[in-house]
Amino acid sequence: MVNKAVQDLIIASHGEEVWQQIKLRAEVDDEIFISTQAYPDEVTYRLMGAASEVLGLPAQRVLHEFGRWWVLKTAHHGYGLLLRAGGRNLGEFLQNLPNFHTRIMMIFPALQPPDFQCTDVAPGHVRLHYRSHRQGLSAFVMGLLHGLAEMFAVTAHITQEHSRDSGADHDVFRITWKEPQPTES
Ligand code: HEM
Repeated sequence: MVNKAVQDLIIASHGEEVWQQIKLRAEVDDEIFISTQAYPDEVTYRLMGAASEVLGLPAQRVLHEFGRWWVLKTAHHGYGLLLRAGGRNLGEFLQNLPNFHTRIMMIFPALQPPDFQCTDVAPGHVRLHYRSHRQGLSAFVMGLLHGLAEMFAVTAHITQEHSRDSGADHDVFRITWKEPQPTES
């Protein structure tokens, strides 16, 4: 499912030819990805690395864009109901995030989901703690969070306060936002 989303993003933004180049460089032979099949993580990491080289963009940027795309396109179109059930606004959605993948595990039992926790919850403010058995995905999480803010049409300020890449025990993001003002009718 994740690899299929990478494929969709690259084809939509850069075309089929660039996608073929990326697959070649990543030494990935699969003609197409099947969204319900599990693939080794290594395939995704290789695709991300190759995309960064072929597009001439830092890997962090590719991961960030992929996170946004995931929320705004993949999840929105393929799993709209699930996404809507996650919350009616950004604050609610973030507080439900710790349980979000539990539901998805009913569809994909082989999932090794990320672990989220919220602290310092206040109106327009939350600290999100992210733990994972996978390394190097904080830019992806940043992209996901920006995608969620866009989805709920709020202006959010997102910073990373602690990073596992810099030796912290886990990643911590601080998210502040302003709800849109209701429009006069
Ligand atoms: C309907 C929407 C969603 C679906 C169907 C979904 C499904 C998945 C799937 C299949 C994986 C791969 C896990 C594996 O292969 O073991 C994954 C990973 C992940 N998801 Fe979701 N997800 C959704 C929304 C979100 C949202 C909104 C966030 C957070 C802001 C999120 C955060 C992550 C992260 C960070 C990973 C990387 C895995 C890791 O850290 O180990 N997902 N998700």
